Amino acid sequence: MTKAWTKSGWRNLPRVQMPDYTDPGALARVEGQLSAYPPLVFAGETRRLKKALAEVAEGRAFLLQGGDCAESFSEFSADLIRDTFKVMLQMAVVLTFGGKTPVVKIGRMAGQFAKPRSAPTETIGGVELPSYRGDIINDIAFTPEARIPAPDKMLQAYTQAAASLNLLRAFSTGGFADITRVHSWTLESTQGAEGYEQYHKLANRISEALDFMKAAGVSSSSVESLAKVDFYTSHEALLLEYEEALCRVDSLSGQSVAGSGHMIWIGDRTRQPDGAHVEFCRGVMNPIGLKCGPSLEPDELLRLIDTLNPENEAGRLTLIARFGAGKVENHLPGLIRAVEREGRKVVWSCDPMHGNTIKSPSGYKTRPFEQVLAEMREFFAIHKAEGSYAGGVHFEMTGKDVTECTGGGLRAVTDEDLSDRYHTACDPRLNASQSLELAFLVAGELHKRAEAERAAV
Ligand code: PEP
Ligand code: CO
Repeated sequence: MTKAWTKSGWRNLPRVQMPDYTDPGALARVEGQLSAYPPLVFAGETRRLKKALAEVAEGRAFLLQGGDCAESFSEFSADLIRDTFKVMLQMAVVLTFGGKTPVVKIGRMAGQFAKPRSAPTETIGGVELPSYRGDIINDIAFTPEARIPAPDKMLQAYTQAAASLNLLRAFSTGGFADITRVHSWTLESTQGAEGYEQYHKLANRISEALDFMKAAGVSSSSVESLAKVDFYTSHEALLLEYEEALCRVDSLSGQSVAGSGHMIWIGDRTRQPDGAHVEFCRGVMNPIGLKCGPSLEPDELLRLIDTLNPENEAGRLTLIARFGAGKVENHLPGLIRAVEREGRKVVWSCDPMHGNTIKSPSGYKTRPFEQVLAEMREFFAIHKAEGSYAGGVHFEMTGKDVTECTGGGLRAVTDEDLSDRYHTACDPRLNASQSLELAFLVAGELHKRAEAERAAV
């Protein structure tokens, strides 16, 4: 029998990676305020996303999830949101075309503010201070005051998330994402990059097909799905005070819903089966992600699946594998076999970022494009060998022309380039050119898979 759930039940369980707020009065005031605010997303939307993810779980669609490692208060602007959205639209077009499959689009946006850290403190020049944990918790400046967790940052995060979502909703339904505008989503920074020409050729083919369809009486003014996209938001549900305060009851079903974002995920460091994060997530109706790193054993995964998806509902649970290039083979087959053996319905997604973070010779935290690509390819190859469905990809990326990950096609970023435009508040992101190039490479995998399936029938 499953234990009763309440939105504050997590408070009685062991928690990791969460701040110790020093002023309980201030914390309670913020929680009270947030609890009275409107939720950012609605139950019906999360139901729709779950349905879309169920299609992925059944092998009929593909998931593209991407965005910042950590959203930041200082880098908040409409242009940035627009540019990341544009890159995701481009990637989705490339994947839809290459894989001949619908693509479910989820941003790491409008709530991705809290970060787990590998060490509780950080030492610079002999000075040791608490680690930065994301703008919703403390400040990145390296001073003792800045690193004190401040509850009112949750209010700023809420406001920024609301404004971001408002813009994303306008972009996805207000004409910007109309497929006839497929040429207009390119970014100047990608000119000359691998993928740029390829994208233009593809966009030309799409335009031509659209002209034909228009002549035949089908256009974006007559068919809504050509004029709009469904775009969803997601973040790691790390700061449970924030999550609890935005939790609401769906009037239709009586179920609880995390009102902070459409999908929330549990990080690789906070997925203890008896811990606070799993407890909170098990009780909300949203689609849930679970990061699966090298320390996750098959038995523990099954236990987590039992807790998080006891009804074996397709679309409820997305397993996001992040092992590191060269290591996928050691871990993924065992997890896939356990899931298959028990008949569990999951989406398998690949995060080729978090297992491939290294320190570059020049001292920057970076990720070599080749390693990212290698892990993605291993993921596809293993699913093919196991007969399971590689359902999606999860990237840390931005529309901004940053130099954070090394490598990539024609405009490869070198170690020396990293200092040029290294802006991330946390982990290194793929820039627009690198993201587009990777989308073509993933599309190549999807195409190969589709061809093999066709040949098999
Ligand atoms: C992240 O997605 O930013 C992250 C911290 O991932 P993981 O939990 O997989 O390390
Ligand atoms: Co990250």
